[in-house]
Amino acid sequence: MKTSHSYPYFGPDGYDGLDALLQELAPSKTFLLVDSNTANCLSVFVPKLAQLDGGFEVLEVSPGEESKSLEIAANLWSVLLEYGADRNSLIINVGGGVVCDLGAFIASSYKRGIPFVNVPTSLLAMVDASVGGKNGINFEGLKNQLGTFTQPNFVLIDPDFLATLPQEEWESGHAEMLKHALLSGTRWAELLGIEPAAIALHHIEQSVAFKADIVREDFKENGKRKILNLGHTTGHAWESYAAVSGNPCTHGAAVIQGLHVALMLSGLQDEQSALAQRYPWQGVAEEALQPLWERQLQDKKNTHGEVRYVLLEHLGRPVWDVEITLERWTAAVLALNSAS
Ligand code: GLY
Repeated sequence: MKTSHSYPYFGPDGYDGLDALLQELAPSKTFLLVDSNTANCLSVFVPKLAQLDGGFEVLEVSPGEESKSLEIAANLWSVLLEYGADRNSLIINVGGGVVCDLGAFIASSYKRGIPFVNVPTSLLAMVDASVGGKNGINFEGLKNQLGTFTQPNFVLIDPDFLATLPQEEWESGHAEMLKHALLSGTRWAELLGIEPAAIALHHIEQSVAFKADIVREDFKENGKRKILNLGHTTGHAWESYAAVSGNPCTHGAAVIQGLHVALMLSGLQDEQSALAQRYPWQGVAEEALQPLWERQLQDKKNTHGEVRYVLLEHLGRPVWDVEITLERWTAAVLALNSAS
């Protein structure tokens, strides 16, 4: 792999930069991975890249978390083999978090790793999944259990893709931006109040810059990068429990619930109440407490069978590896239930 520009390029600069990368890499074959929703982004994306003139193959998966599976990954590896993809082949992931996570995973493991590019089309993928080099698929009903840390060769963020983003997808990205604001201590109130139409490129750039700085310090998540999991311990448990209960929710909706719990456990009532004004706490039925806790026990951040949380000493001051017991977590959830 020759070139890596893991920090995103934005808008027109991104297309120029990607064209230059394509010229430099001169891939033996280029694959564009999309889902059936983002396939129509290609009519905008492809004509902006002179270097794609030489041809490419489109690989399409179904939209949704179900595509982050071993079966779909195996299908994609088979297709790459059938096309004779070699180590100089390139995969360009054009899509949301699922496409970026899945495409980066198959690229980073195929023949021990081939170049790949992320072109996020959702707000969630722009501010989180496309940046930082984590990828993965779900396994045994649990999120991102198989995956690698591998930086993309290039990330292109084109905010024009957001023009047609559905409301729930917008909220999903908003949840990750709110997480970054809580962690950095900057623009929390402004970002909490922002409406989709008001989101500007500089908001996305600031959110990405915060995450990219943390990743630069601790790429493999041995320490500080763990803070990026704020809200995700309950959040991932919530998302997988919602899916098996036949009531699936977006990643962002689950992260919002996780942020409520983390703020409550942190003793930050003002921030939790402010969050509840915008995104109310959903409530946890008594019979859901145990399955949610069991899922948290599977969290990748845990050690010695203890559930480890990211909390905030105050806005902008995260702490990680905080052991949270079942009793303490249950008390926080019940307090949220009675406050709502
Ligand atoms: N989404 C959290 C991270 O990239 O570390």
